[in-house]
Amino acid sequence: MTSSFRVAPGGRLSGSLRVPGDKSISHRSIMLGAIADGTTEVSGFLEGADAISTMNVFRALGVAMEGPTAGRVTVRGVGLDGLRGAAQPLDCGNAGTAMRLLMGLLAGQPFESTLIGDASLSKRPMRRVADPLTAMGARIETRDGCPPVRILPSGGLHGIRYPMPMASAQLKSALLLAGLYASGETVVVEPAPTRDHTERMLGGFGVRVERDGAQASVRGGQRLRATSIDVPADISSAAFFLVGASIAEGSDITLEHVGMNPTRTGIIDILRLMGANIEVLASREVGGEPVADLRVRAAPLRGIEVPRELVPLAIDEFPALFIAAACAEGRTVVSGAEELRVKESDRIAVMADGLQTLGVSATPTPDGMIIDGRGGQPQVFGAGAIESHGDHRISMSFAMAALRAGGALEIRDTANVGTSFPGFTTLAARAGLAIDVGAADPLRARS
Ligand code: S3P
Repeated sequence: MTSSFRVAPGGRLSGSLRVPGDKSISHRSIMLGAIADGTTEVSGFLEGADAISTMNVFRALGVAMEGPTAGRVTVRGVGLDGLRGAAQPLDCGNAGTAMRLLMGLLAGQPFESTLIGDASLSKRPMRRVADPLTAMGARIETRDGCPPVRILPSGGLHGIRYPMPMASAQLKSALLLAGLYASGETVVVEPAPTRDHTERMLGGFGVRVERDGAQASVRGGQRLRATSIDVPADISSAAFFLVGASIAEGSDITLEHVGMNPTRTGIIDILRLMGANIEVLASREVGGEPVADLRVRAAPLRGIEVPRELVPLAIDEFPALFIAAACAEGRTVVSGAEELRVKESDRIAVMADGLQTLGVSATPTPDGMIIDGRGGQPQVFGAGAIESHGDHRISMSFAMAALRAGGALEIRDTANVGTSFPGFTTLAARAGLAIDVGAADPLRARS
């Protein structure tokens, strides 16, 4: 069953709200908790389909867990060598993070595993992870570089030094996790900084991860000590409200307890360069991750050339940023963002199609987009129907576009919003968005 959003035009966002837990940190809390000695208590966990897929995979690998209940999960760690092979393929659903990190974690196990995913994940590139793991001694089979991924027991892994060809936190994390099971040292070199939740959380579990400039390294055989993890609200989910409040006149919204890891805050830097009014309040540190409340008020935005070094620090936020760019005065140019083409959808093509459908001049390029903003006009977007291609972030970004639309927007294939942001429509409606969920299936609509 597919579902759709119908969003009436206009409105403004106000009030105080907390978006769900960080997806990256939630995945990692289960993975590291599972291979730790002792019981790990997680709070603020994202109860979205992606993180639940990770829980289900670890249950299949013999790890007992309670929850999630109101964001709380108890993970009964089985220790570094305590995972057990599963009889069935391990289903990662829509979650690229689950699959890629699991490849690293499972590469050094003495049992065979097969990782599968949904239609979107089945098209995503896995060779970027399989190749360096193979260089470490792993035995991995893919279907033309894509899932299913079959991981066979190997004769043991050994550390390597790997300069990554692309800025990918999933790849870095997969290699560091494999490094726990490898002899010697595993060294990963990043072409640009990417999110460092794995390094931070491994530290919280008592594992030494050395950082030296662009390089992160780990020695094999280190055991993890269970801990407690407080997951902050996901800045990638907050991003829709940062953009929505910035573009809708009269908006004034506060987002509570948002994760402010400096490898994730590119969205704030970019929006501020565009003229956004974002105040960072009550900065604090919670469980090894910086957190703050963000107050956002509407402001006139201007087009910019997005600095390339900010791209990996805002990689998941470009769908929302493209909406902001359409509402800015002047031209916005994004380049160096070719990774957007291999996310849950081809986010360059899908966003450009949607923007064009709504009358915005958006020109896709191989590694980004050129958008001529219509910021001078109150109504930036025309009415229309948008195909999200089942990509959660595309759906939520276009929902915010309705705030500056001249007529209603219909956004199709929105069920996957639940992978990262359960309760999005309720929260967005509470903040002031005129959003309704409809069933796209005509049979259901009649019943
Ligand atoms: C993630 C890393 C990023 C990001 C994804 C989550 C992670 O992917 O897009 O949503 O949790 O490590 P890449 O590593 O492919 O850049």
